[in-house]
Amino acid sequence: MLYSEKVMDHFQNPRNVGKMDDADGVGEVGNAKCGDIMRMYIKVDHDTQTITDVKFNTFGCGSAIATSSMATEMIKGKPISEALSLSNQAVVEALDGLPAHKIHCSVLAEQAVKAAVKDYYDKNNISYGKELQVCDHDCAHCAGE
Ligand code: FES
Repeated sequence: MLYSEKVMDHFQNPRNVGKMDDADGVGEVGNAKCGDIMRMYIKVDHDTQTITDVKFNTFGCGSAIATSSMATEMIKGKPISEALSLSNQAVVEALDGLPAHKIHCSVLAEQAVKAAVKDYYDKNNISYGKELQVCDHDCAHCAGE
């Protein structure tokens, strides 16, 4: 079987799908190669710097849907610092793996989380480091290759 049961589950029943009108941060990222787009919304508790709610919309392939669904589950209720250290490899592992040619889809999920936090920081004048400079070039590194 090409896809794990967990991937199929998150693809067919994605968690936290939708739009958030009162989001504190919105991140949109895309993959130039396949044209897929992912948008992630976060709600932040300002005092504790915790992500209290997450929603996402993915206009993309099944792996992009499954990885963004899993990523939202992994950062919901967590401090921002923890969400920022979420790697695409961790998301892939939580899904029991992805075929090699689909790893780039999980990179989109990691970048969408970072882009949403960056937007939150920008809106609240919170400074951040280089790790949040989301790369939108179509380079092999960002494509997870
Ligand atoms: Fe583009 Fe999966 S093929 S994100």
